Amino acid sequence: MLKTPLCHQIGISYPIFSAGMGPAAGPELAAAVSSAGGCGVLGGLFMPPPILRQAIHRLRSLTDKPFGVNFVLSHLQEGQIEVCLEEQVPLLVLFWGDPSPYIAEAHRHHTKVFTQVGSVEEATAAADAGVDAIIVQGVEAGGHVKGLTSLSTIVPAVVEAVNSVPAIAAGGIATGRGVVSALSLGAQAVSMGTRFLCSTEAAVMRAYQERVVSSTAKDTVYTTLFDVGWPGAPHRVLRNTAFVEWESAGYPASGQRPGEGKIAGTVSVAGTTIEVPKYGAMIPLTGFSGDMESVALYAGESCSLVNDIKPAAQIVQEVVKEAEETIAHMQR
Ligand SMILES: Cc1cc2nc3c(=O)[nH]c(=O)nc-3n(C[C@H](O)[C@H](O)[C@H](O)COP(=O)(O)O)c2cc1C
Repeated sequence: MLKTPLCHQIGISYPIFSAGMGPAAGPELAAAVSSAGGCGVLGGLFMPPPILRQAIHRLRSLTDKPFGVNFVLSHLQEGQIEVCLEEQVPLLVLFWGDPSPYIAEAHRHHTKVFTQVGSVEEATAAADAGVDAIIVQGVEAGGHVKGLTSLSTIVPAVVEAVNSVPAIAAGGIATGRGVVSALSLGAQAVSMGTRFLCSTEAAVMRAYQERVVSSTAKDTVYTTLFDVGWPGAPHRVLRNTAFVEWESAGYPASGQRPGEGKIAGTVSVAGTTIEVPKYGAMIPLTGFSGDMESVALYAGESCSLVNDIKPAAQIVQEVVKEAEETIAHMQR
């Protein structure tokens, strides 16, 4: 009932993608979503090419279903895309940059290219460049946010503008009703970040997930505060102690904020232990030791709809069931 033309094109059962969320979205999460009939996306951000290759092998050992690999183009490392093409990954899911230099080569390797955009102009440019699908992000989204307007206004505008290129809706969706609403706006699928962040397979601290579960949309804020490592990029996070202190201090500029320069904690990323500074863009991954209140706790407004932490397959199944029931109810 839910299968859209995009599902047929890439060989998935349900129009549900998990977002690439950097190291939080490892092979276990991506494989669980793909095996459940959606399309899991591995977070390629920060993975040096040899580690990325191992992660793709691990993902393939866990599922034989289609999957994607995500890159943030402003942080792309030399050799990352080449590894994906050599490994013939089904999809590249790109964000925060111009996808056009990668499309022809990807298509030569039978890899499709999806890109996430935040405006009609960006969507039109991506469509003209030849991307295979466009992920349309609303301002409700968690993590780094390109979208400037709500999902319900940008999705129909992009669908109208790009004609035959399939659109995927991202931002504020965590339930079956959300899927139905995205499809009714003209999208052919959804991409969910915050919902899958609160899955048992996501590689983040349990305390961070519990914080997301106990929060609602009003506890999130759209800001540029957590800029160390990724300057000038707006993001949506939970209002934690670092945010409240900065607010009380009158929003001082970067470099002059309370506790600036302190180390908030350490974490292992792709086998290397790194120090995470206060106002760092790195989220508390599994194994983070330090103060979670000093670093970015990305979450979308969809946290209002995320009330538990459960296996990714169960999330896919429940979202599909609710979407099908919602459609059946509307038909009655
Ligand atoms: C914890 C977290 C990390 C994210 N990291 C990335 C990333 O590395 N690459 C990317 O393309 N998008 C990233 N995003 C944004 C998602 O692609 C997507 O736009 C967003 O999650 C949609 O909103 P939702 O969280 O309400 O589902 C991230 C989102 C979250 C919540």
